[in-house]
Amino acid sequence: MAGKGVFKDMLDGEVYKYYADGEWKRSSSGGTVNILNPSTRKPQYKVQACTQEEVNKVFDSAKAAQKLWAKTPLWKRAEALHRAAAILKENKVAIAEALVKEVAKPQKDAVTEVVRSGDLISYTAEEGIRILAEGKFLVSDSFPGNDRNKLCMSSKIPLGVVLAIPPFNYPVNLAVSKIGPALIAGNALVLKPPTQGAVSCLHMVHCFHLAGFPKGLISAVTGKGSEIGDFLTMHPMVNCISFTGGDTGIAIARKAGMIPLQMELGGKDACIVLEDADLDLAASNIVKGGYSYSGQRCTAVKVVLAFESIADMLVAKVNAKVAKLTVGPPEEDSDITPVVSESSANFIEGLVKDAKEKGAKFHQEWKRDGNLIWPVLIDHVRPDMRIAWEEPFGPVLPVIRIKTVEEGIHHCNANNFGLQGCVFTKDINKAIMIADAMETGTVQINSAPARGPDHFPFQGIRDSGVGSQGITNSINMMTKTKSTVINLPGPSYQMG
Ligand code: G3H
Repeated sequence: MAGKGVFKDMLDGEVYKYYADGEWKRSSSGGTVNILNPSTRKPQYKVQACTQEEVNKVFDSAKAAQKLWAKTPLWKRAEALHRAAAILKENKVAIAEALVKEVAKPQKDAVTEVVRSGDLISYTAEEGIRILAEGKFLVSDSFPGNDRNKLCMSSKIPLGVVLAIPPFNYPVNLAVSKIGPALIAGNALVLKPPTQGAVSCLHMVHCFHLAGFPKGLISAVTGKGSEIGDFLTMHPMVNCISFTGGDTGIAIARKAGMIPLQMELGGKDACIVLEDADLDLAASNIVKGGYSYSGQRCTAVKVVLAFESIADMLVAKVNAKVAKLTVGPPEEDSDITPVVSESSANFIEGLVKDAKEKGAKFHQEWKRDGNLIWPVLIDHVRPDMRIAWEEPFGPVLPVIRIKTVEEGIHHCNANNFGLQGCVFTKDINKAIMIADAMETGTVQINSAPARGPDHFPFQGIRDSGVGSQGITNSINMMTKTKSTVINLPGPSYQMG
């Protein structure tokens, strides 16, 4: 159970403590932040409102711990990550419970998120062993004007202290996708959990605590964005920021110093369906891609661009599947659960109303109860409607009918976002040519967009972010190259 058994030290009465110097602590502020349950819209959990002074201390400890951690043998760092992965998986039920209560993730998906996170950590440990063991060896005489008297040995060293800010929709998985690579590469890690999702995140951190990482190497500070948000992201001791979330990321990137950034800020993933597509396959992927976790995935299908000639047939198939989606509480493992907050539900409603006023065709009745929104497919959407371009992050999916491939590609590329996209066709040559023309970080052929498997590169362009994620890319991104050059007194011996 969340907050019980092995997790009991995390609680102070009914308030979750923050994690620093290898201990769970109460903030000197005496203040707390409420986390509302999206289903009941009532307070579910409370976390500490940390102060700037506490943030400063966390960075001091992180810096000191990192120096020693960087010198800890790589195989020992990997072993510690494997321990954390195992403990996380052992405690999947308790962590999933927190995910259900604070972000309304359907029960089964919540368990899957925790298991996937354990697998991600283990894979990261293995990948780190492989890629950090290798360096480069260069000889000077390949560059014009040089003799063979300089030998360069380069390897990857850690950046220092990584600040990780995961989003509410995957507070565990998108936290460990940052923590794992940072730690295996020899960095220290400061985590700022999202407010909704903080308690799941803190439980995950406790698994790292139980795995026996050095004191101060990992910390998790909770609190009000207004008090510690900018303070964290602009802190002079941050050497790298890995952020996943909304357009706050753009502001963070503007204010951050001269440090590597890994930012993933959302998507408006287009799904182009050609005339020759397998429409059953396309329809299943549109429903899974568009409505799973109530559309609250950056990789969700967010606009369907269907050829006129097959649009009616496709829409009918999608509608038949939408009708079977169950709507209700996450505890009952419903397909559609309440969206994360009232403001999010209001935003979605605004997009839907705009489309309705401008003449879009609704295949389902618009229905909302608190944060719970029934799934809708909005057809005959035109480019003058907000929903054609904006990211609802909810179970509402627009369909735009297109006459040419170029029209589909244009809509995909004219968007501010460029995370993923997908194309459905049986003509593989056409699929590859379209994928090549779609300006997004990834294009899926004959499947819905998705980040996983977690070792695949994952990146967005334009407002979808900077830097590439995926296990290997994240490890590389959280390191820098260090070279040692051996300068010989002259070229090698000239023999006989
Ligand atoms: O919400 C953003 C996530 O990176 C999406 O991950 O494709 O595994 O759902 P996913």
